[in-house]
Amino acid sequence: MSLPLAGRRVLVSAGPTFEDIDPVRFIGNRSSGKMGIAVAAAAQALGAEVVLVAGPVHVATPDGVRRIDVRSAAQMREAVLGELPADVYIGAAAVADFTPRSVSGHKLKKTAGSDTLVLELVRTPDILAEVATHPRRPSLVVGFAAETHDVEHYARGKLANKKLDLIAANLVGAAEGGFERDDNALTVYWAGGERTLGPAAKTLVAAQLVALVAERLDG
Ligand code: CTP
Repeated sequence: MSLPLAGRRVLVSAGPTFEDIDPVRFIGNRSSGKMGIAVAAAAQALGAEVVLVAGPVHVATPDGVRRIDVRSAAQMREAVLGELPADVYIGAAAVADFTPRSVSGHKLKKTAGSDTLVLELVRTPDILAEVATHPRRPSLVVGFAAETHDVEHYARGKLANKKLDLIAANLVGAAEGGFERDDNALTVYWAGGERTLGPAAKTLVAAQLVALVAERLDG
């Protein structure tokens, strides 16, 4: 019996991005990359050829998964678009929404007499939305949404606005899971349906998510 994702190419992004300010400082976030890497492992286990584009993380690469390491949102965009075409894109990375307008070539110094520093930030490209509207769009584009409240409302808004097929939403700041944890609970929404996965270990939730992806890909 062949595995449900045999012959399919799955592209996954994971982890945070680091946006450099100067040679020693950056703007980052608390994503560990565990969820995205568990998703990559689960897709590989179901027979897919998996490419993982990872921001700075301290998690081992799953066996059989090809990993491309990046640092910034701009580098992640370049790596992800460079790996198209794919059958499935799962955007699990916590991509910075803003990046410094310019990176200082030297370490920023304190200025005598000034107690403030103003950093100008500009929007980063939305990789997920770009993949979803790309000429070589994967058959299934899956996003993540971390929300502190009104989860379904905001998740369904992102599903429609970014032209996604599925969105996996989790409540952050709650006891159930989220960043920097080993367990998680997700509610996955699509046009006309939803399914709750977990709460359980991220590896188990990832396996359930990838099984749902395989189902939707066939349907
Ligand atoms: N994403 C992306 N590129 C960005 C920003 C986000 O690909 N520049 C993707 C993430 O990988 C994730 C989803 O978009 O799959 C998160 O959606 P987003 O709208 O960025 O969520 P928030 O940052 O939480 O947005 P908001 O602050 O509006 O809630």
